Amino acid sequence: NSENKLQLVHSHIRAFPDFPKEGILFRDICPILKDPAALTAVTDLFEEHVRQNHKQVELIVGLDARGFLFGPLLAQRLGVGFVLIRKKGKLPGATASVAYDLEYGKAEAEVQEDSVAPRQKVLLIDDLLATGGTMYAAIQLMKKQQADILGCMVVIELKELNGVDKLKPHSVFSLVQY
Ligand code: PRP
Ligand code: ADE
Repeated sequence: NSENKLQLVHSHIRAFPDFPKEGILFRDICPILKDPAALTAVTDLFEEHVRQNHKQVELIVGLDARGFLFGPLLAQRLGVGFVLIRKKGKLPGATASVAYDLEYGKAEAEVQEDSVAPRQKVLLIDDLLATGGTMYAAIQLMKKQQADILGCMVVIELKELNGVDKLKPHSVFSLVQY
């Protein structure tokens, strides 16, 4: 059941103090990827959430880089496409871009202009929500594309950084909270 799956996911997340900078407690999802049962549990829980709340979804949009680990698995389960939001300079062709701040730095995100059509129903996915800066940038990109944003999904939410408030009125679904 869902409770067992959540337990399995939770037990596959490690914490590393002072990485990549002093004062940051880094939540590492690599053990999830290493265990097929844990990775299946993540995909199951996301799929369940989407089927219950966002049946109309047409595209899963994943954030560079760890959103790419979970997004395509979910998209395939749902029978919809997957679109990449990448860090600056990685995508060929016409792109839309937006700059943003990170918990530990600065970055710029891009999406191919022809990747999402106006009014397409999208769900955004990443591994972790910290300050929400990355997800906020992704939302801005989807707005530029005139997408219909159904919500955001992450494996981990770091509650003390209040990323959820920054993303309002968009909803955030998370599997594990710290
Ligand atoms: C991490 C994480 C999220 C983002 C969350 O990625 O995977 O994408 O930070 O932080 P925020 O909510 O404060 O924006 P990172 O930028 O470290 O890049 P990576 O995925 O390439 O490792
Ligand atoms: N991205 C931003 N903050 C993070 C953290 N504390 N752990 C893992 N990834 C992150």
